[in-house]
Amino acid sequence: MALDRDISAAFRDYYSAKISEHGPTPPAVDWPRADIAAITYLKTLAVIRDRHRDTPVNLLDVGCGYGGLHTFAKKHGYHLNYTGIDIVPGMIHHARELNPEGDYVVGDALEYKFDRKFDYVVCVGILTQKLKSSSLDMDRYAAQLIRKMFDLADVGIAFDIMTNRVNFMVPESYHRSPIEILAFCLSELSNKVMIDHAYERYEFTTYVFRNDAIMKT
Ligand SMILES: C[S@@+](CC[C@H](N)C(=O)[O-])C[C@H]1O[C@@H](n2cnc3c(N)ncnc32)[C@H](O)[C@@H]1O
Repeated sequence: MALDRDISAAFRDYYSAKISEHGPTPPAVDWPRADIAAITYLKTLAVIRDRHRDTPVNLLDVGCGYGGLHTFAKKHGYHLNYTGIDIVPGMIHHARELNPEGDYVVGDALEYKFDRKFDYVVCVGILTQKLKSSSLDMDRYAAQLIRKMFDLADVGIAFDIMTNRVNFMVPESYHRSPIEILAFCLSELSNKVMIDHAYERYEFTTYVFRNDAIMKT
């Protein structure tokens, strides 16, 4: 059985090589093109229920890469107090250059001790890959990461996972049943859960809100 730390280390090594090879471009974070990443970024930002309030929304982006979601959010008029964490120093170096107003930290999101909470905590693209880990180890890792994200969120979280409702799975990708994820979130986190399994990708986005969150649309 691999430890969570081993899985994080495998991600760190894999994405360190990617950012060295590609620089701050979509292939460094396994997006074939920016317009494909944009579909998931938009789905992820849909977690924000109160984006038109007067004060900026506090958002933590777990596994932020070189800050692609941050750049996208600014371009589309989201008013964020943005924090990003990534385990790869090279990713954070580029993220800080591209979006100097963001608060970017290097660290393993599972272990990093944040001294504050956020309105929303999101994660794009960590729970879509398992690399060489076993499915069981990755299931445990995913559960830990989702719990940690929810602990840090005052309002809600969003994350994407590859769906198992496909005809073909790449062995390194991490595919889950949306029904299992729904059951996990309902039983461990909150009654306020939504799953968007209806867009043109082989993934789905899960949204979990605190039971006392006010669900403005
Ligand atoms: C597929 S990339 C996605 C990057 C970014 N979210 C995006 O979509 O543009 C996944 C990122 O998560 C980071 N990562 C993986 N495991 C992590 C962990 N445990 N803590 C922090 N970052 C992690 C990787 O270094 C990588 O930059």
